[in-house]
Amino acid sequence: MNIAVFASGTGSNFAAIASAVRRKQIPAKLALLVCDNPRAKVIGKARKAGVQVFLIERGAFAQRRDFELAIMARLKQAGIELVVLAGFMRILSPEFVRKFKNRIINIHPALLPAFKGSHGIKDAFDYGTKVTGVTVHFVDERMDHGPIILQEAVPVREKDTLEALEARIHRVEHSLYPRAIRLFVQGRLRIKGRKVFSAG
Ligand code: GAR
Repeated sequence: MNIAVFASGTGSNFAAIASAVRRKQIPAKLALLVCDNPRAKVIGKARKAGVQVFLIERGAFAQRRDFELAIMARLKQAGIELVVLAGFMRILSPEFVRKFKNRIINIHPALLPAFKGSHGIKDAFDYGTKVTGVTVHFVDERMDHGPIILQEAVPVREKDTLEALEARIHRVEHSLYPRAIRLFVQGRLRIKGRKVFSAG
C-alpha cells in the first residue's frame, strides 16, 4: 500500500512514521510527502529519508478547488491509498474528503471532542485540565470530528510548563500514530457509524 503524509511544519510525526516504515512496523511504502509550506522543516526530513516531496503552495492557485485538484492528480499518479495528515494546517474540502472516503486519517493533540482546532495542547493547558491526550481519527467533512481509531490519555502535572506538556504529548503521538497506521494498512479497521473496531 502506498501512503502519503501531508504536513506543513516540523515533521516530527512524519519522522516517526518514516522510521516505523523503515523498521517494517508499518508494512507499506511511504511514497509521498505533500507539503504546502516551502520553509517547513519536514521537507528536509523527507529528503533525508528518501521520500518524494510534492511542494504545493495554496497561494499559487486562485481557487482552493484547483489547489486540491492538483494534489489529487499527484496522489493518483503515485497510486496513494491512504492519506495521513500530520500537522497539515489546512482544512480539506468536503469534495476532497468524499473522494478519499475513509482513507484519510488525522492526529490531534488532545482528547477529542475536547479542544478541537489548531492549539489543542495550549487550550487544554490553559483550561487547567488534569488529563489531556492524543487522538487519531478518520477525517470526515467536519473539523476534528470523524470516527476515532485510537486515543491515549496524557496526565497534566501541576509543575508542568506548556513546553513540558508539549514534549509529553509529542512522545505519545510518535508511538500512537504508527500503531494506528499499521492497523489501517493491515486492513484491521472497520467503521460502523461513529465507532471504529480493530479486528484481529
Ligand atoms: C502535532 O502535534 C499534531 O498533533 C498537530 O500538529 C503537530 C505537528 O507536529 N496537529 C494539529 O494540531 C491538527 N489540529 P509535527 O510537524 O512535529 O508532526
